[in-house]
Amino acid sequence: MVLRTVFKRSYTDSSSVIRNLKNPKLFQTQGLINGNWVDSDNAVTFDVSNPASYPNDASFIGKVHSMSPQQYNSAIDSAHEAFKSFKKSTGDERSELLRNLYHLMMDNQDDLAKIIVLENGKPYNDALGEVKYAASFFKWFADLATTTTGNVINSSTNSKKILSIKQPIGVCGIMTPWNFPAAMITRKLGAYVAAGCTGVIKPASETPLTALALGYLQQEAGFPAGVVNILPSKNAAEAGELLCSNPKVKKISFTGSTNVGKLLMKQSSSTLKKLSFELGGNAPFIVFEDADIDSAVDGAIASKFRSSGQTCVCANRLFIHESIYDEFSQKFVSKLKETTTLGDGLQSGVTHGPVIHDRSMKKVRQHIEDATGKGAKVLLGGNPREDLGENFHELTVLGDATTDMMIFEEETFGPVCPLFKFKTEDEVLRLANDTEVGLAGYFYSKDVSRIFRVAEELEVGMVGINTGAISEASLPFGGIKESGFGREGSIYGVEDYTVVKSMVLGI
Ligand code: SIN
Repeated sequence: MVLRTVFKRSYTDSSSVIRNLKNPKLFQTQGLINGNWVDSDNAVTFDVSNPASYPNDASFIGKVHSMSPQQYNSAIDSAHEAFKSFKKSTGDERSELLRNLYHLMMDNQDDLAKIIVLENGKPYNDALGEVKYAASFFKWFADLATTTTGNVINSSTNSKKILSIKQPIGVCGIMTPWNFPAAMITRKLGAYVAAGCTGVIKPASETPLTALALGYLQQEAGFPAGVVNILPSKNAAEAGELLCSNPKVKKISFTGSTNVGKLLMKQSSSTLKKLSFELGGNAPFIVFEDADIDSAVDGAIASKFRSSGQTCVCANRLFIHESIYDEFSQKFVSKLKETTTLGDGLQSGVTHGPVIHDRSMKKVRQHIEDATGKGAKVLLGGNPREDLGENFHELTVLGDATTDMMIFEEETFGPVCPLFKFKTEDEVLRLANDTEVGLAGYFYSKDVSRIFRVAEELEVGMVGINTGAISEASLPFGGIKESGFGREGSIYGVEDYTVVKSMVLGI
């Protein structure tokens, strides 16, 4: 049982925001299976709470139905049935469905953004940005749905022709995280629909309401029943195993931690599924001595503190050349002080929200205490903000960070930014690559030769050069090393949901 404490501060009343949505039908709390909204068949529900006001009573947003194992199996069966006809739909038909969904998301952007703020905690402007980013995947994949092609290949003899076609792989199991409740679904859903697949989606238990709102909108957009099934569950481990072990599921796409990715890969091995995994990062952000320092400061703020540090592509380790370290750190701290305000995401002027829950807060505290215990200096912040709520932590900058600190090895996934000094390009490349993961990396330099050299040497899937913001629908999104495999969005995004069939024609 959760004990709720009443604080003196006044909180956004989450239920009242929901009651005042312009389109009340966006608020769904049941699962969506084969076009029907259903209660949990074993009567299990779970509470969804606003991290900005948790554990105050005002944080309660709604009770969501947790789908049982039988319901997961029945959703997989419906997706399997729906696939038989959906795979025969034309690219034009699928493109139209995706375009309808894009327009519906844009028409409902204010409500969708409010739902995201409530369940995730990010500020309203960021949430609105996420809705637009999320919708852009539907527009992007609406175009790609019509352009998937095969090849005619020369045979080694004149008596044969070889043709290759791309076919949809089948039922897809989709597992998404809480940090982008809309965009991590649309990036996968848009791609699988463009390919002609069907899917069963398990949204994060912290943020199922945005997913269910998208479920309602896809019905409005005219998607056939069974193409999009959305199954909230309070038991992520059980749901993951059900999707990974079912032989009717041919493909798993997961965004989340490296440890969970490893487990899902094991669970998928008995049925040899195709996998796309976007896992954890530990992004280096390097500022060379020839960089434009003001622009590097802006890029570092955008990259490190986006969603309060809770994205897989957030800078985790800032490496600053020793000759500009003092100037950079002073400007970085001043700009953060001038431009950021911590608070409830629905209040005006707020730029940064809470972390998602107490486990995140614990990691933030652990990284700060470990670093300061080993000699890091607190240049900004450093403390929890219990006066704002139990999940709030000051944006924190730590100077004089060293490689023996936990924060060098592990992704914080929170608002803590360590600054490391370096002397040479070789040294900083060695430090940047000294990690098991490789999702994103960033650097600032004006030297063209260095730009190509460093971009090629960084062991990551995506490099931001003189920018801290890399994400958009056209970017091939994904990592190397233990950050996973597969590319989402972009011209490659649909490929992950197709298989190549070769035909050899005797002539
Ligand atoms: C992520 O954090 O996993 C995704 C971030 C993005 O799409 O920019």
